[in-house]
Amino acid sequence: MSERHQDYGNLQIDELNYNSYLNIPELTSLQQLRSEPRHHDEMFFIVIHQSFELWFKEVLHEIDLLAKHLDEGNVSRVLKVLKRIHAILTCLTQQIQLLGTLTPKEFSGFREALGTGSGFQSVQFREIEFALGLRDAWFFQFFKSHPDELARLQARCEQPSVYDKLLKTLKNIGHDIPDEVLNRDFAEPYVMNDKVVEVINDIYDAPQENYHMVLLFEALIDLDTMWSNWRSVHILMVSRTIGAKKGTGGSAGADFLESRLPLRFFPEIWEVRNSEWTK
Ligand code: HEM
Repeated sequence: MSERHQDYGNLQIDELNYNSYLNIPELTSLQQLRSEPRHHDEMFFIVIHQSFELWFKEVLHEIDLLAKHLDEGNVSRVLKVLKRIHAILTCLTQQIQLLGTLTPKEFSGFREALGTGSGFQSVQFREIEFALGLRDAWFFQFFKSHPDELARLQARCEQPSVYDKLLKTLKNIGHDIPDEVLNRDFAEPYVMNDKVVEVINDIYDAPQENYHMVLLFEALIDLDTMWSNWRSVHILMVSRTIGAKKGTGGSAGADFLESRLPLRFFPEIWEVRNSEWTK
């Protein structure tokens, strides 16, 4: 026996290793198919959704760090965190394409097994939207019988969003953000404000004085763009898989999802793109 093999022989069975550190046995026991008789493609469907949820968890972890750096006014750190979130969202937009390997007939073979299970009930997806700044109490209805999840969403709504924090940062560095914006009811949807448009416009207009802020605005536009890209690719995948049928969550399906496409996390940073710029 070689020395390497002898080394392996000395390992204790309960020693911390790849499988125990990552909880692989637990992780790989969580794919429980419900179709009867078992449909081959249900495994694929479960794995893709579970891996999305793991990445949503990581995105929320990063958003919480981003919020902390924003509170501290540390723009460089915010940019570093955004870089990672961008990379993950790029992957997730690619990942949804995997569903292109599922034909409509294959999906219909196990769709019944989902019952009323729907992306509407993804608490982490909704938390990401709420944390970044897109809040809508309409979605609470999907968590009525799940008090823990409802509490998580409500807690997000009590906190200022990433966008609220950005506006506070602008105020802290001397920009004229109105008090009614800073002291708004965070649980309510954000309403665009002309004065905020003016402030952001002025920063873009004098980039030499605030170049790090311009970079931050552009990175936030990237994030918004990536989220919309995900929405678009998801809609195409929905149309491809179930056509114009209703969703398992009870919505009109692709038509409903289309209605959410124009939503933006950072509305005034988009609005300034309508400005006529000085040279
Ligand atoms: C065959 C694949 C899929 C189909 C047919 C599908 C279909 C739908 C439909 C019809 C809706 C609207 C709500 C409803 O009535 O249920 C929806 C929403 C949603 N789906 Fe999917 N979906 C698929 C894959 C995925 C995947 C892989 C994810 C990843 C997590 C996902 C996440 C979501 C989310 C988060 C929503 C809520 C969107 C929002 O409120 O803006 N879906 N899906």
